[in-house]
Amino acid sequence: MTRHLRSIDDLGRTGVDAILRLTDSMVEVGRRDIPKVPALRGRTVVSLFYEASTRTRLSFETAAKRLSADIMSFSVSTSAVNKGESLRDTVLTIEAMGIDALVVRHGSSGVPWQLARWLEGSGVSVLNAGDGWHEHPTQALLDAYTICGEHKAGSLEGLRIAIVGDVKHSRVARSDVFCFAMLGASVTLVAPPTLLPPSLEGWPCDVSYDLDEVLGELDVCYLLRMQQERMTEALIPSLREYSATYGLDRRRAQRLPDGAIVMHPGPMNRGVEIAPEVADLPNAVITRQVANGVAVRMAVLFHLLTGLSDDPTLDA
Ligand code: CP
Repeated sequence: MTRHLRSIDDLGRTGVDAILRLTDSMVEVGRRDIPKVPALRGRTVVSLFYEASTRTRLSFETAAKRLSADIMSFSVSTSAVNKGESLRDTVLTIEAMGIDALVVRHGSSGVPWQLARWLEGSGVSVLNAGDGWHEHPTQALLDAYTICGEHKAGSLEGLRIAIVGDVKHSRVARSDVFCFAMLGASVTLVAPPTLLPPSLEGWPCDVSYDLDEVLGELDVCYLLRMQQERMTEALIPSLREYSATYGLDRRRAQRLPDGAIVMHPGPMNRGVEIAPEVADLPNAVITRQVANGVAVRMAVLFHLLTGLSDDPTLDA
């Protein structure tokens, strides 16, 4: 069994299935009067975020606390990084304190793999909370779990999913495509050519440049945030034109088939990729994604730190 979660590939189909199964147990824990179990008592989890985050950071920290792990939060702005300490020295310093897992978000692709190499032999698990434009595996797991919960079949097998928007800069898109396809969904990326990666070789998905063409056949319409902070050149004529062509407004939302859901990883640009009123429709499951994120991250921490794949003993 893998000790790290750097990409969906680290888990494979067996690992993804195990996490989704374990998440059911974690959801049950979350519904208890006291939503806390001793499963990871004595373990220490560190959150090391070099980039801003609301959802991922808070849900990992909540997940660790619900499993009774100790959690250390590293804040770049108040750390010795400001005195010039390198990433390697920072990580080895934290490891020397005696830790079990390192949850890392970094603006550079590949950092979780580098950390795993530096921590080789230490027994510390590395969990990728988003690296550059590359991967965001726990987002993909919580998205898959949310889709399973929203569709009658309880699985992704045969579902038609469109991932719409700024794919080029999206770590969520890559992890979602590989996770959804692994679970049997048919995935289409919908974006202007300038917002797609230069090569999609090996990506198990189709491509469309026309949202209106695919809308009527979808089970899931997954919108991506326009990541203007990562755009170094003008990739679209204007946000207004992007929104008119690729934004999910009320008129387009009405063309989705009955039972289709709208998803977004957050944070949303209301009025750009999604109309403000569409984000609040009953079939927009964005806050359910956030709620499931805590249970999924509990399952991931439990799976990696205990090596257990089946229903754990989660006695209070
Ligand atoms: N979806 C997501 O990664 O959100 P945060 O940046 O708030 O963690």
